[in-house]
Amino acid sequence: MNYKITVLRGDGIGPEVMEQGLKILQAAAEKYNFTVEISEALIGATAIDQTGNPLPDESIESCKKSDAVLLGAVGAPKYDNDPTAKVRPEQGLLKLRKSLGLFANIRPVTTYEILYDKSPIKTDRIKGVDFVVFRELTGGIYFGKKGKSEDGKTAYDTSDYSVEEIDRITRLAFDTALNRRKKVCLVDKANVLETSRLWRHTVDKIAQEPQYSEIELDKMFVDNAAMQLIQWPSQFDVILTENMFGDIITDEASVIPGSMGLLPSASVGEGLALFEPIHGSYPQAAGKNIANPFATILSVAMMLEHLKQNDAAKLIRKAVDKALHSGIVTEDISKDNPKSTTEVGDWVKEFITSD
Ligand code: IPM
Ligand code: MG
Repeated sequence: MNYKITVLRGDGIGPEVMEQGLKILQAAAEKYNFTVEISEALIGATAIDQTGNPLPDESIESCKKSDAVLLGAVGAPKYDNDPTAKVRPEQGLLKLRKSLGLFANIRPVTTYEILYDKSPIKTDRIKGVDFVVFRELTGGIYFGKKGKSEDGKTAYDTSDYSVEEIDRITRLAFDTALNRRKKVCLVDKANVLETSRLWRHTVDKIAQEPQYSEIELDKMFVDNAAMQLIQWPSQFDVILTENMFGDIITDEASVIPGSMGLLPSASVGEGLALFEPIHGSYPQAAGKNIANPFATILSVAMMLEHLKQNDAAKLIRKAVDKALHSGIVTEDISKDNPKSTTEVGDWVKEFITSD
């Protein structure tokens, strides 16, 4: 089997964590007798610097010809602090999601016993936490009509959702829940927002379909959910939510396991799927060989599951677990005895090759 993968390393620590991910992908391919054909393409600030465009057409074309896409990170401080910037790295990411039809962002949050004491949350609260957030990714306030008045004194962003947009991600979330603990929690703001009421109505209707009769559907206002995620995170199984709420609560949820550097994600939709660590470009660490590569390595594992290379994915997960238990970790996890990004990558690679 040969897989065509487009790799978008992006900005900040993106290139160096991706280097480790690719190392592991290659090792897994050799071990399990498949091949990968990598095409590198530009996105983000790096793409702006080289072409003036945060997502050149060639990048989209390359993705469309691939079996899957791997992304590092997007974003650079020189754009963050400039409200007059006409082009921004993040536009590249949003355009990529839209052009590839990636309407569902899937972010699993699991905890590792060995890291319990790294979490800012008390151990008894995070024991057994294992949930997955389904965040809608191509609608809502991110993509609604936006603008500014002529005098520059008012601005607006609108949030639109159609039944169809809600329906398709809801089915993905429900199908996933059927293979898990069968609980779905819809997070919204239906006490205030019309779009949230449409979400409730649509999700309720789908929950009544016979194939979903086993699903236990809960609803929670986003402000309450933000609190419950810290207070009692183990209650959640599958969280379903719109674009903006999903953006916010997944960052919040990412602190539960003890390091944001551990969490992978998948964006899926009309065919092609994209895999990326949920952390950002972390520019302060760029080029220092200190960034945690596990989120990218685990994103490679998610990609291999998507490509039905389940044994390879399992071995990668086992290797990450072993590395964590053996203290082969970067400085975000071990201040006293940190390993470098490349040392962690090499160790995981060696584990896979020699297993
Ligand atoms: C994310 C990021 C992006 C988002 C930014 C970089 C546009 O925060 O993937 O969560 O808001 O979706
Ligand atoms: Mg975010």
